[in-house]
Amino acid sequence: MSAPPYRISFVCLGNICRSPMAAVVMRSLVADAGLPVQVDSAGTGSWHIGGGANPPAVQALGRRGYDGSTHVARQFGPRDFADYDLVIGLDRHNVADLRRLAPDDEQAAKVVLLRDFDPDAPTEDRDVPDPYGGPDLDFDHALDLVTAACQGLLAQLPVHR
Ligand code: 4NP
Repeated sequence: MSAPPYRISFVCLGNICRSPMAAVVMRSLVADAGLPVQVDSAGTGSWHIGGGANPPAVQALGRRGYDGSTHVARQFGPRDFADYDLVIGLDRHNVADLRRLAPDDEQAAKVVLLRDFDPDAPTEDRDVPDPYGGPDLDFDHALDLVTAACQGLLAQLPVHR
């Protein structure tokens, strides 16, 4: 019998730029590593529920060989915590919002900041900046930060092949 997968959700504000990019990158990393990890994403906001990823985010992923075209945006709610082992905010506001949303301390303890997994992240600013409405360069930069942090996360996952 195989062990149940470790479950991760990445959470940003709109769930159309940063957290979908993080989910696509992390899914690729755990697939390459052969690890039993289930990855998805959500937003704290409701504006984009049911929609696809922001086209510049899909294009930034595409420039690196990833497919972001199948994403469907959803909103993270208090009852969702029980479905995950780790709930990863893309910036400090997402982390604060998620901790407020958590139904109890046990669920709130699942909330972490993505760039805390990047050993090279500066201590003073560990946000993945919101690229929404910005130029392609901002999406590429967000993807750089997400990729470095996801590599660090992969190395620290409590699951083994
Ligand atoms: P995300 O970017 O949180 O990285 O998905 C945003 C997308 C949309 C909005 C805000 C942030 N919005 O206000 O619609």
